[in-house]
Amino acid sequence: MPNLVVVGAQWGDEGKGKITDFLAQSADMVVRYQGGPNAGHTVCLEGRELTFHQVPSGITNPAAQCIIGCGCVIDPYVFNHELAELRRHKIRPGNRLAIDRRAHMILPYHRLLDKLQDSVGDASGQHTPLLGTTGQGIGPAYRDKYSRTGIRAADLLSEETLAGKLKRNLAAANFLLMELYKAEPLSFKKLFADYWQATRTLARLTTDASSMIEAALRRGARVLFEGAQGMHLDIDLGTYPYVTSSSTWVGGVASGTGVSPLWLEQAVGIAKAYTTRVGRGPFPTELDPADADNIRKLGHEYGATTGRPRRCGWFDAPLVRAAVRHNRLSALIITKLDVLDSLPTVRLCHSYRLGNKTIDEFDPETAADLTPQYLDMEGWQTSTTLCRTWRELPVRARRYLTRLEELVGCPIAIVSTGKDRNQTIMVQPTKLAWLKSR
Ligand code: IMP
Repeated sequence: MPNLVVVGAQWGDEGKGKITDFLAQSADMVVRYQGGPNAGHTVCLEGRELTFHQVPSGITNPAAQCIIGCGCVIDPYVFNHELAELRRHKIRPGNRLAIDRRAHMILPYHRLLDKLQDSVGDASGQHTPLLGTTGQGIGPAYRDKYSRTGIRAADLLSEETLAGKLKRNLAAANFLLMELYKAEPLSFKKLFADYWQATRTLARLTTDASSMIEAALRRGARVLFEGAQGMHLDIDLGTYPYVTSSSTWVGGVASGTGVSPLWLEQAVGIAKAYTTRVGRGPFPTELDPADADNIRKLGHEYGATTGRPRRCGWFDAPLVRAAVRHNRLSALIITKLDVLDSLPTVRLCHSYRLGNKTIDEFDPETAADLTPQYLDMEGWQTSTTLCRTWRELPVRARRYLTRLEELVGCPIAIVSTGKDRNQTIMVQPTKLAWLKSR
């Protein structure tokens, strides 16, 4: 039975929520392997929108086991809120949700430190973000993990263990809060009591999830690995330092689940028909503010977690090409094609100029100095939202997609033209074993 990794091929927000929800309808297991509440995966269910931050989007399939893997970081307050939202939508995870005991926990001081360290004040008292993080405590939680002082899900099983680790870590966090940021310290007593209370459901779901995934793969179950953020936000391969703190590419699956990478069969890259980015960092095809505003309005490009306006630009083939190479993507899924429906001209970046050289693949090291080279194409100026097959798409839209596919050098398996599950067009489903064998 096939397994499939879903990876963002740009800078996140590619529509992984909708696509994972679609692919997860035939999954036996859906696994998140990195990231935490910085992710916002939006799924549209019978006209209602649901945003998942930590729970795998596959939770909408009542037959799928959902796993939060050891590479994730978890905020119990966000998690509890998510469970309440699910209940409100009559989705009961029951025993379908498991959390790896090795996953690291986000604590309230991680959030405080994330916000404080990402904000630089000038003499006039103006604060500007250093990276533009989501402020969810992601960086500080991963920092504790790699300092070997982090608190893990398994630590929530004993009051004594949690209290001991929390006391030690809070002393260090309070030192930073007071001495470096001139902020108020947190009280151990209150923090411990609140946190203990807030983690009771989570503690019950804690298990050796890695063995569950391995067992599912061994019995031939259909396992979907749901990536968060995007390839170019990867801690090692992304536009460092303007990246997140986890492994967002296919390489993160093995370390974020504890199963061998040799199990993995295929990876699919999700990319929007244009490009967006939140927070700071290089973005070669970024539009000027007026044009970006137009796409932002058409595509409702505001962060699902923070509500921040996203930076918008044209489709960048060399950027996605790099994602295809690193992840060995078998196919692409192109989302939000409909956002371009009204534009008279659509542009595809086919390469960059760097001095007198032509560059064909995005490289984070030179990203800030690249001048994009465009192919201009006539827009289709017809709605694609009701199209259900490749043939029903306007000829110019098909031309755009065909050219995009040629430039990236990877087949398009699916095109999405709206939020609903049925606004999903199969283009070359045979390129993905997952789709063939449903
Ligand atoms: P952090 O992950 O909150 O530390 O943020 C680091 C960078 O990654 C910032 O530029 C964020 O805007 C970006 N980022 C984190 N999560 C997402 C996401 O889910 N979508 C898009 N950008 C993200």
